[in-house]
Amino acid sequence: MDIFHIEGPVRLSGRVTVNGSKNASLPIMAATILTEGKSLLRGVPNLSDIRVFSRLLDRLGCKVAREPSGDLSIDSTVIDNPVGEYEIVCKMRASVCILGPLLGRFGTAKVSMPGGCAIGDRPVDIHLRGLRALGAKIYLENGYIVAEAPKGLTGSEIFLGGPFGSTVLGTANVMMAATLAKGTTVIDSAACEPEVVDLANCLNKMGAKISGIGSPRLTITGVSELKPVDYKVIPDRIEAGTFMVAAAITSGNLRLKNCRISDMMAVVDKLRNIGVTVESAGDAIEVAHTGSVKPADITTQPYPGFPTDLQAQFMALLSLADGNSIMIEKIFPDRFMHVAELNRMAANLRKEGPVVIVAGVEKLIAAPVMASDLRASAALVLAGLAAEGTTVVNRVYHIDRGYEKIEERLNPLGAKIQRRNI
Ligand code: EPU
Repeated sequence: MDIFHIEGPVRLSGRVTVNGSKNASLPIMAATILTEGKSLLRGVPNLSDIRVFSRLLDRLGCKVAREPSGDLSIDSTVIDNPVGEYEIVCKMRASVCILGPLLGRFGTAKVSMPGGCAIGDRPVDIHLRGLRALGAKIYLENGYIVAEAPKGLTGSEIFLGGPFGSTVLGTANVMMAATLAKGTTVIDSAACEPEVVDLANCLNKMGAKISGIGSPRLTITGVSELKPVDYKVIPDRIEAGTFMVAAAITSGNLRLKNCRISDMMAVVDKLRNIGVTVESAGDAIEVAHTGSVKPADITTQPYPGFPTDLQAQFMALLSLADGNSIMIEKIFPDRFMHVAELNRMAANLRKEGPVVIVAGVEKLIAAPVMASDLRASAALVLAGLAAEGTTVVNRVYHIDRGYEKIEERLNPLGAKIQRRNI
């Protein structure tokens, strides 16, 4: 198992290129199931989550390969085993987004029911409600979701809202299934996240007819077939946000290349309120910080609100603020595994239900800490950059799921992170 030794405090400075989006890549990889032939996906990051998803597609019968160019090719001509197996789904719950495309193309699918994870229960009831509305018969058998529509799916009007807003992967699943359904589907309360927009744009390039992209009301006119695609995924706005916090928490300055500021306005707005300078320069963003961190109140919300996937990283930053901040988690009310770990580094955080009161402290102090999920572990790395002493982050496989060789990208900027295998 790998661990990080992070020596702090450091000041980061320099240029870093943001990779393609993990959360756009995964459903776009699933979308290739809808077609026969070989698709080429550009900008797909080389992450462990992407490798797990590639294995999932391989097991279905697809041929997935990294081309010498670094692009990902997926030949989905032959899919002879439309089953998402437990051994893979239990590693990564995003696997559930093969359900919609399998059902759309073959009229049958069997996917292991995802379990809970470190950030909460994460049910899939809304995914299933949407697919049922398209005419699928769905039942649970030995821990597997079995979906059947032997005569194909039929367009319908579907509401995808839930107690915490819409659902990103649920929207992806239903939208993908509806591309090959008979007639027109209207999805109301669709997720508007840039990753859903990217998937819809990719599907349209494959020949789908989706309108209302980026709005909560998507209209999908079913077509008889989709063709393979050559598509470049959008930059990862969560990775970009993590680098922005890295600049802020180390009183540094970074130029982030391959970055779309328009996808990140809620994040940029908060950083500016905190006292961080953020300037857009073409497809790059410059982030610089000196002086104190001002406190801020943050509520996570569906896009275009502040993303839950940056809540932990901002908590690390606000733990050093000149005053008290409030963090309210409205998407995953239990996503606070990092709170106790940051407190081990001398932060002063108090959790009250889905709210954390962040009392700013003057400095963080290094400690051994445990990564619990992807974004929580990113927060611990950020805290380690600012803390006095050597922070040891255990279980860094969590961070490898979503950040490609983070230490090799931060060290040239001034970080002192060593990966050790124990
Ligand atoms: N929900 C339901 N029923 C459902 C589906 C969702 O109640 O059927 C609830 C969830 O429990 C949650 C809320 O709705 O409270 C939103 O969940 P959503 O379905 O949107 O999450 P997701 O699609 O499973 C994606 C990202 C997450 C990100 C969330 C929210 C991928 C692969 N995952 O998950 O990313 O936090 O949207 O933006 O796209 C991460 O990258 O670290 C990560 C966890």
